[in-house]
Amino acid sequence: MSMASNPPTSTLNPPPGTAASATRKAAKPAYFSVKDIHAYYGESYIVQGVSFDIAESEIVALLGRNGAGKTSTLRAIARTDDPQLTSGEIYLDGKAIHKMPSHQAACSGIQLVPEDRRIIAGLTVEENLLLAQIAEPIGWSLDRIYKHFPRLDERRKQEAITLSGGEQQMLAVARALARDLKLLLLDEPYEGLAPVIVQEIERILHEVRELGITTIIVEQNAVAALKLADRALILDMGHIVYEGSAKEVLDNEDLRHEYLAI
Ligand SMILES: Nc1ncnc2c1ncn2[C@@H]1O[C@H](COP(=O)(O)OP(=O)(O)OP(=O)(O)O)[C@@H](O)[C@H]1O
Ligand SMILES: [Mg+2]
Repeated sequence: MSMASNPPTSTLNPPPGTAASATRKAAKPAYFSVKDIHAYYGESYIVQGVSFDIAESEIVALLGRNGAGKTSTLRAIARTDDPQLTSGEIYLDGKAIHKMPSHQAACSGIQLVPEDRRIIAGLTVEENLLLAQIAEPIGWSLDRIYKHFPRLDERRKQEAITLSGGEQQMLAVARALARDLKLLLLDEPYEGLAPVIVQEIERILHEVRELGITTIIVEQNAVAALKLADRALILDMGHIVYEGSAKEVLDNEDLRHEYLAI
């Protein structure tokens, strides 16, 4: 077990090949870094000093009991108005996300797929995707999306709200890819889905990783999330209480009982 920590950063520039340069290399800032963030809904203090680092193209499962603060942490990272981020720092690929409103965080590559998926009623599948591309920066072309999501290709002219739950989840992920995506935040993507559909979404998320995109997945189905993820973070009462490999969590019965009910 290891507690969350941030690697030391250095501004020194030692000559290459020296021991000092090796140290500097090891201390390179993480691709995505959350440093001691605190966030409130009004007076309610919910995210109470969360810190972690994620490497590029890593998949990290953010787990914990109901009410632990998982959704709030994702929302704080995506810079939604609620909860309000009052202190701490968030960096993605060198950019200071904590200084941005949500639309700028989105333009910097952070896409949150919330639990309710926010499919737009009255629009077809294709119109939902086109709407995501209404403003720069644009990510995947529609052709590319349809190649990776054959079910959406078959249903492009269908009203999106009539899709099955699994197809709506695929559309929500596809819509994130239609933007210039660097960090995908998924809140309960498997909720209400049959195992066969969960497998199809897992396949898509593996493809997304191979393209170099970084993912944080929040999921009640901790076993499925740990199967997909490289690493796990466990939140409890607004704090990270455990950080380790997905396998370490699966192998640690006490931890699973205490925080994950599995
Ligand atoms: N809009 C809000 N206003 C006030 N308190 C809120 C709001 N949303 C969530 N909370 C509180 O913040 C805490 C963390 O909630 P959050 O939704 O982040 O938990 P979670 O880990 O995602 O839980 P779940 O597994 O049930 O989705 C809870 O105590 C919840 O009641
Ligand atoms: Mg939640």
